[in-house]
Amino acid sequence: MFRFTAKALVCALSIGLAGLTQAADPVVIKFSHVVAEHTPKGQGALLFKKLAEERLPGKVRVEVYPNSSLFGDGKEMEALLLGDVQIIAPSLAKFEHYSKGVQVFDLPFLFDDMAAVDRFQASPAGQGLLHSMEDKGITGLGYWHNGLKQLSANKPLYEPKDARGLKFRVQASAVLEEQFKAVRANPRKMSFAEVYQGLQTGVVNGAENPYSNIYSQKMHEVQKYITESDHGLLDYMVITNTRFWNGLPEEVRGELRKIMDEVSAEVNRQAEALNQGDKQRILAAGTTEIIELTPEQRAKWREAMQPVWKKFEGEIGADLIEAAQAANRP
Ligand code: LMR
Repeated sequence: MFRFTAKALVCALSIGLAGLTQAADPVVIKFSHVVAEHTPKGQGALLFKKLAEERLPGKVRVEVYPNSSLFGDGKEMEALLLGDVQIIAPSLAKFEHYSKGVQVFDLPFLFDDMAAVDRFQASPAGQGLLHSMEDKGITGLGYWHNGLKQLSANKPLYEPKDARGLKFRVQASAVLEEQFKAVRANPRKMSFAEVYQGLQTGVVNGAENPYSNIYSQKMHEVQKYITESDHGLLDYMVITNTRFWNGLPEEVRGELRKIMDEVSAEVNRQAEALNQGDKQRILAAGTTEIIELTPEQRAKWREAMQPVWKKFEGEIGADLIEAAQAANRP
């Protein structure tokens, strides 16, 4: 009888202790992404880790996995839904299976500049898109800039006809496929981690990315020309697993949200300078000529690519496209 009671006591104690340890265990947030650390997204992830661990000591631990080291861009969304990772920040081009509306960001020549992007992302329409995937288990926490995309190739691209017949790497986006088809080039979907090799081996002849991605992946070493086209946007939506997020203790969730807002503002303040710095580094490397377009040449690219808007108007919604365009008129 005594032995039974002692055993029960030990058992109860160890369950109690386990409970205590569990309660004291920090929430682990795995933040996985596909770019290098010295990029807007790479820096944002590190700042989020720093602030979260400073302000929620012992309550939250953030593990950042850059450079597709945990999941590549083909797998990260699935991993988020399965709970294998808690935060990711895919480019807005990678949401088409989850939200048709988010495709609006891929439309070529939609935004005049990054100030217009800021206004649209802050608008009710832009904020609405952060919540457009909650029925699928995805909650948007904010937008992070990278910036405007430039075209790169091994031949100079001044006008749309120069791209004819070339194979361009695109992200997994039907809009971007159509964008290249509109200039009679051949789009080829490829994950980010494969782009350098694709360009090096000639599987593709060209690509599109902001300077920070071109430089940090050394794409300039295998591309003789970059056309400063600013023809489209590469930004991110920072997302989390809705169930995970709603299951966090309220004070932790509230603090993390504040931190995320702060980090988003900081990333968005710094992104342009980072891209301009990388443009200078590409010039200094001497591998690549950067072509500046005349207004007439740029107008030709716009004219050739803009018909893509009509093709996707049904899926995206004319209202959303109009709301995005309205952001060009402050
Ligand atoms: C790309 O695939 O080119 C980009 O989306 C990579 C990134 O996350 O910036």
